[in-house]
Amino acid sequence: MNGEELVKRMRHLGLVLLLALGLWSPLPIPSGNAAAQARSETIAIIGTGNVGSTLGKIWAEAGHRIIYGSRTPNASRVRKLVNETGHGATATSQAAAAAQAEIILIPVPPTAIPEVIASLGDLNGKIVVDPTNYWSFEAGYPISPRDPRDSLAEEVQALAPGAIVVKAFNTLNYTIMEDPSRAGGPVTVPIAGNDAAAKARVARLVEDVGLEPLDVGPLQAAEYLEEMLRLALGFRELNPGFAFDYFLRVRPN
Ligand SMILES: NC(=O)c1ccc[n+]([C@@H]2O[C@H](COP(=O)([O-])OP(=O)(O)OC[C@H]3O[C@@H](n4cnc5c(N)ncnc54)[C@H](OP(=O)(O)O)[C@@H]3O)[C@@H](O)[C@H]2O)c1
Repeated sequence: MNGEELVKRMRHLGLVLLLALGLWSPLPIPSGNAAAQARSETIAIIGTGNVGSTLGKIWAEAGHRIIYGSRTPNASRVRKLVNETGHGATATSQAAAAAQAEIILIPVPPTAIPEVIASLGDLNGKIVVDPTNYWSFEAGYPISPRDPRDSLAEEVQALAPGAIVVKAFNTLNYTIMEDPSRAGGPVTVPIAGNDAAAKARVARLVEDVGLEPLDVGPLQAAEYLEEMLRLALGFRELNPGFAFDYFLRVRPN
């Protein structure tokens, strides 16, 4: 073995040792896993449909306290959801749920946003996570029915100026939230908002679902995130039987 080969061999052994000791990783490590385990959030989930019930069950399992806010908290459908969620989950009115939580997810129909925000009471200083989407079809392709075409997240922020609005969870189907392995590979959840600390807390909730958070910038980026969902829907229209999931891959610069 010549000198050059020896150096190569030594470097390789050093790398193997570092990997074995867990001191070096060739890929970026998603932030906050340890913190997510340490921090238990109280989360109000306003809306007990597909998205609300899916995330409620997963987050309860991950150690968070879930309070569903429903128009009909005593309906047998909602009672059943509370039982299935377990881990001390409860259901109450939308306002009572929001009053008890620092983080409020609003998985409601887009047209219900004004009525729902008005019903939530004082949202000053609370993190409102908005996963909503809106579309109508023009010539067979999904477009924003809003005029001007600003985002629903910005509408939420305008309705609740003191809230810390974060757009997240709108670009993927709830079945992928339920079981990310269905996507056949990692899935990114882009997050937009103006408050870094709030985005970090939401990012940890994304990791709890087994998905990859990606901070895409200020709340005005929510417009693009809502377009991403319309693009995905458009793809479905153009390619019946197929869908796709978003994943932003890190590559060397
Ligand atoms: N489905 C998906 O895969 C998916 C994925 C990402 C984002 N999103 C977006 O997330 C939001 C929720 O989607 P989803 O599929 O969970 O909807 P959904 O199954 O129809 O559930 C919506 C829930 O909103 C609550 N709600 C409050 N006010 C309402 C009103 N005026 N009319 C109707 N419901 C009202 C209801 O809960 P209570 O009856 O308990 O009040 C209802 O169960 C939508 O904006 C959607 O675009 C959906």
